[in-house]
Amino acid sequence: EWNMHMYMEEAAEDIRKQAGSKPVLLLISGGVDSTVVGGMLLKSLPHDQVHLMYIDTGLMRKNESVKVEKTLKALGATHLHIIHAEKDFLDPLEGVSDPEKKREIIGDAFIRVQEREIARLGVENSILAQGTLYTDMIESGKGVGNKAKVIKSHHNVRSPLVERKREQGLIIEPLSKLYKDEVRALGIELGIDPDVVNRHPFPGPGLAVRIIGEITREKLQILREADHIFISELKARGLYHNIWQAFVVLLPVRSVGVTGDAREYGYVCSLRAIISRDGMTADVYPFEMNDLLEISSRITNQVRHIGRVAYDISSKPPATIEWE
Ligand code: XMP
Repeated sequence: EWNMHMYMEEAAEDIRKQAGSKPVLLLISGGVDSTVVGGMLLKSLPHDQVHLMYIDTGLMRKNESVKVEKTLKALGATHLHIIHAEKDFLDPLEGVSDPEKKREIIGDAFIRVQEREIARLGVENSILAQGTLYTDMIESGKGVGNKAKVIKSHHNVRSPLVERKREQGLIIEPLSKLYKDEVRALGIELGIDPDVVNRHPFPGPGLAVRIIGEITREKLQILREADHIFISELKARGLYHNIWQAFVVLLPVRSVGVTGDAREYGYVCSLRAIISRDGMTADVYPFEMNDLLEISSRITNQVRHIGRVAYDISSKPPATIEWE
């Protein structure tokens, strides 16, 4: 598209001016925004100058880390630092079931791992690139001049790194004039896989807020399998792009079922699928009953520990999109 092409060329020129010959560091979450920023940096600068860091928290979906790595390599990433930090996140989460406490632990772990890995890689003096969108700027710019703060209300990471870099004027934000749909268009212009560009949003704390109650490695594994089936089915049925966000929630409830002659207690999970413009309000996706029945039976047949599937029919408000 002509307009987006122009925008891309201008933004690339800006990035070159701002970066000069300094190394640029970008923390990749795997979501659309940071991936598109990664694409912009790699388009604008010598690949050697671009450091991409992705932290595997152990709270990601099935195959997520592998996909992120593939996408970024396809864009030419050479310094791609995949940090396997599952232990840093899962150990302190052990035995914790309070949702806010979980978010706090995850936020702290992000900061700790980031600082440690930045020091280890010796990229302390780099410029920091961020996937801040236009909406993030206005939301947070209210009443404080244009000193934009980056983070959405429940984005958990009040990052000292970002604050430090901002004070030093060492921040690049190539998406700060764009709305989400324009970011997607830019992603396509950059040649990023449309599957990546059109993904549903995924929360920073990942699967941690989709396992109600205590998080264990076993529950993560169960949820990953169920979520993978749900999302694959939505894609196979051509429904994925009609839905704004869809996922499975694993409940801390076991319920009785029968397998063969035996009574067994399996976990209960709930499917969630909503339509929305911006996540502020949401309507329940009106599935055809048959789709739900078939998806449910695939989940209970293929995920051993799940014995019962429910569908969440609450809109936002009064419910939120995530369960915690
Ligand atoms: P709620 O649950 O508040 O979610 O209706 C609205 C949107 O925000 C996402 N979400 C989060 N994103 N950190 C994030 O980065 C979080 O702690 C968080 N909680 C919710 C949610 O997935 C939905 O898209």
